[in-house]
Amino acid sequence: MVNEATATTDTDHFADSTPMKSGPASRQPPQVEFPLLHCIDWSFNDADTDEHVHGPHNYPAQMPPQIPRTLFQYFQLTGDLTRGDWVYDPFSGSGTTAVEARLAGLNSLSHDVNPFACELTQANAIPLDPSLLTVFRDRLLTGLQTELQNVRERHHADAEIAVQKPAVREGWFPYPQLYELCKIRDRITVLKAETPDAPVCDGIIRLFRVALAYTTRRVSYQRNGEFKRHRIADADRDDHDPDVFDIFTDQLSETIDALRTYTAIAPHTCTTTVLQTDSRKAEHLDPNSIDIVLTSPPYGDHATTVAYGQYSQDPAIVAWGRDYEEMRQVDKDGLGGKNEILEPLPTLEQWSPTLAETLDSLRKKDGRADDALDFFTDFYAVLEDVARVVKPGQPVVWVVGNRTMSRVPIPTHLITLELCNHLGFTHETTLARDIPDKTLPWENAPENLPGVTNELMASEYILLMRAPEATA
Ligand SMILES: C[S@@+](CC[C@H](N)C(=O)[O-])C[C@H]1O[C@@H](n2cnc3c(N)ncnc32)[C@H](O)[C@@H]1O
Repeated sequence: MVNEATATTDTDHFADSTPMKSGPASRQPPQVEFPLLHCIDWSFNDADTDEHVHGPHNYPAQMPPQIPRTLFQYFQLTGDLTRGDWVYDPFSGSGTTAVEARLAGLNSLSHDVNPFACELTQANAIPLDPSLLTVFRDRLLTGLQTELQNVRERHHADAEIAVQKPAVREGWFPYPQLYELCKIRDRITVLKAETPDAPVCDGIIRLFRVALAYTTRRVSYQRNGEFKRHRIADADRDDHDPDVFDIFTDQLSETIDALRTYTAIAPHTCTTTVLQTDSRKAEHLDPNSIDIVLTSPPYGDHATTVAYGQYSQDPAIVAWGRDYEEMRQVDKDGLGGKNEILEPLPTLEQWSPTLAETLDSLRKKDGRADDALDFFTDFYAVLEDVARVVKPGQPVVWVVGNRTMSRVPIPTHLITLELCNHLGFTHETTLARDIPDKTLPWENAPENLPGVTNELMASEYILLMRAPEATA
């Protein structure tokens, strides 16, 4: 399942062994209470959650960087983590955990089924040479405005425009803007071809593609503020005449500034490894090789909660030349998406009484009990694998949100806790947080009736656990 093309390890000055090669000894968990953790407002409503690389490119259900930052600091204070230790995030998204891991002097390994998330994680978490960035940016931008102006003029004169159209669906982009996006894509491709194959150059090219991905989304008819693919109204499309050059260059300069700031504060001696892979099947990781897991899993199957694939589809097709079907597959590959279906585990209901009650409520309402069981069967496969790869007694942090299905609340935090208990994890404490600012389908009604709404998710829980102790 590992896609070698997107498996990147940034190993500039790295001197330690990777989790895929070794299995160091376990440490004893420290005996600590948690007053400090309970004094913190984990909602981080007034905090700047868009600092440096966390800002320029949005990703659905991003975790505030303050969560991993605070917890890495905390576990460094307790002695659970020391610099050079390994962090594993099975659900990387934009790479918030990987960025904060490096800032804390930790190595990280991240997985995601979404190729766009893998690119974004690498673009965000791996520092780059600032002077090379400037040189490459100048090469990319020299003559770009004139070239795009030329495209506009040819389009208005009905002249032919020589570009290979990307595999996006017709009707989702204005013209000539789609051609202009292609011209930027082609310039990046030429730059890449003229550049030596070296991690630092690849990183710069990736950064340019991330800025193009953002521009693609802004230019398309996709409605802002929504993660599912919905177009703006027909009437509004006539007025939608975005300036590709302005959007791209503004975004590029914001991205480069953010990366410069990050590069100045981030240690360059850490490793950031990102794999496009399904975390249900992480057999490539060695047992007892990870020092901490800190992750926010999806709230439910992508199709009915947050459609990460739909969100990423056009940006990945335009900026990376990804295939249309491949991008459509992402929402089926996510947990509960019924790809390579695992045998549903009815025993999950014995291990988690809360899951049993929840499924009963769904069955009584003729609700989506099978879908819920599929999701938790998939999720359990990841929990099981995490139990295998984390060193005994080391911290494991799940940031989970509770959704509803068929109007039945799904207490994912309790179900996670009970399933983890079954696997031998120890629960240390649970921290609650509000998520008022997220762009989520807060009020989707299952019936889809106008005016009928239903709160899907208003809070998240941070579950602090310890990995199972080794059995004799
Ligand atoms: C809540 S998001 C993570 C957000 C991330 N913490 C951030 O700050 O950006 C969950 C991610 O899990 C990924 N995902 C879902 N199922 C997966 C699986 N089976 N294996 C790996 N990644 C998966 C989704 O593609 C999505 O990017």
